[in-house]
Amino acid sequence: MRADAGPAAPAVLRLPGHEFGTVAADLVQGVLSSTSRPVIGVATGGSPSPLYRELAARGGDYRAVTWFALDEYLGLPAGHPQSYAEVLRRELIDPLGLDPRTVHLPDPHAADPHDAAERYEQRIADAGGVDLQILGIGRNGHLAFNEPGAALDSRTRVETLTEDTRRANRRFFPTLAEVPTRCITQGLGTILSARRLLLLAQGPAKAEALHRALAGPVTSDCPASALQLHGDVTILADAKAAALLP
Ligand code: PGA
Repeated sequence: MRADAGPAAPAVLRLPGHEFGTVAADLVQGVLSSTSRPVIGVATGGSPSPLYRELAARGGDYRAVTWFALDEYLGLPAGHPQSYAEVLRRELIDPLGLDPRTVHLPDPHAADPHDAAERYEQRIADAGGVDLQILGIGRNGHLAFNEPGAALDSRTRVETLTEDTRRANRRFFPTLAEVPTRCITQGLGTILSARRLLLLAQGPAKAEALHRALAGPVTSDCPASALQLHGDVTILADAKAAALLP
């Protein structure tokens, strides 16, 4: 490699969707077995579900692991089934038998959410940073709730959801009006600080975003294009999500 070559390009593994769980779980377990106090960053949404199901099916000892969520909605009452605290309890904590104290999320009920965001960023740093961050991609190219326009070096902060993201997440709520408008999200800079990134993308709705993220310019217009800056990114994409990639 030339000395002035940039970071290694993301590695795209084209797989049928039914193989996502096993391949992603192999990657996670590789990190767990090579790290003494592993820190895993977890996403919510449909994309990571096959991974969590596979990890639960395999069983395992996760006592040494610390987990950090990417984001959390603001404005939902405590215990709301669509709060990410509850989603992670259903999809990760209970099925894997985790100690809930090892799974961290931003505090959406803090008196000052900006302060809660800063404290969350600090907590990740205090844990030694994230060894492996699991990611999905929004159809508008967002990563976590870093919507188009988010600075590539942004850190954990309060953000406003775009209408497109609220409509995409409408499927989890009875009405669009009940989808929150604000959140606390890790920043793109926070995500890029993780030592390794694993993004899962399935279905035709992700094809354009994935193409812009990997084949387009690095620009905050497409937050996921920040992946090109990282150097250790693995992407699992099914044929429909990868359809526009070269
Ligand atoms: P999904 O969402 O995993 O539910 O498709 C991903 C995202 O919007 O970041």
